[in-house]
Amino acid sequence: MAQDNPSDPAIQASPAPVQYDRMMVVLHWVLAIGLVYQLGLGLWMDELPKEPVGYRAQWFNLHKSIGLCLGMLILWRLGWRVTHSVPMAANPRGTWQHKASSVTHWGMYTCMLALPITGFAGSNFSAYPVKFFGVELPKLLDPDPAWKSVMSESHEWLASLFMILVLLHFLAAVWHGWVKRDGLLRRMAWGRANID
Ligand code: HEM
Ligand code: HEM
Repeated sequence: MAQDNPSDPAIQASPAPVQYDRMMVVLHWVLAIGLVYQLGLGLWMDELPKEPVGYRAQWFNLHKSIGLCLGMLILWRLGWRVTHSVPMAANPRGTWQHKASSVTHWGMYTCMLALPITGFAGSNFSAYPVKFFGVELPKLLDPDPAWKSVMSESHEWLASLFMILVLLHFLAAVWHGWVKRDGLLRRMAWGRANID
C-alpha cells in the first residue's frame, strides 16, 4: 500500500477557506463604519468657523483621537491579513475584474495606512499639540510650516483617493450582491455560510 508522503505539496497545502475568518469580518465592518464616519467628520470640521475659539479645535481633537484609534485597528488588520489565509480571489487571475479588485483592495489598504500617518505627522509639524481624548501627547517633531503643509496636502489627497476607491468597492459589492447575486457578500459575513 502506498505511504502518504508528508513532504508532498498536495498534502501540505491546506485548501483556501471559503470565507474570511471572524476577526477579519469584525475588523472589516468596524473599520468600514469608523472610516466612513472619520471621512465625514474630516470634511465637515474643515468648514467650521474659527470663532468662538476652541469650538473648531474640539472637533479637530476628536478627529485626531478617532484617527489614532483607527490607525491602530488598521495595523492590527494588516498584521492579521498577512499572517492568515483568505478565500481564493473571486475572479480568475488575468481577468480585468481580478486586476481591478486587487488594485482597489491594496489601494484601500495603502490609504488606510497612509492617512493616519500623514494626519499624525502633519499635526506634529504644527504648532498645536495632539490631544488623545484630552491627554496631550508628547511632541515628536519640531513645528515646521513647510512640512506641515506637505503632510496636510497629502492627507487631503489621500482622503479623496480613498473615497473614490471605497465608492468603487461599494459599487462592486452592490453588483455582486444585487445584480449577479453570486453570494460573494457572504464571504465577509459573520455567519458560516454554504457558499454556492
Ligand atoms: C484614520 C483615518 C483618517 C481619515 C479617513 C481622515 C480623513 C480626513 C479628511 C476627509 C479630512 C478633510 C480633508 C479635506 O478637507 O479635504 C481630514 C483632515 C484632517 N485630518 Fe484626518 N483622517 C484620518 C486620520 C487622521 C489622524 C490620525 C490625524 C491626526 C492625528 C488627522 C488630522 C487631520 C487634520 C489636522 C485635518 C485638517 C486638515 C489638515 O490640516 O491636514 N487625521 N482628515
Ligand atoms: C470604508 C469602507 C470599506 C473599506 C475600507 C473596505 C475595505 C475592504 C478591503 C481592503 C477588502 C479586501 C479584504 C482582503 O482581502 O484583505 C474588502 C473586502 C470586502 N468588502 Fe469591503 N470595505 C468597505 C466597505 C464595504 C461595504 C459597504 C461592503 C458591502 C456593501 C463591503 C463588502 C466587502 C466584501 C463582500 C468583501 C470580500 C470581497 C471578496 O471576497 O473578494 N465592504 N473590503
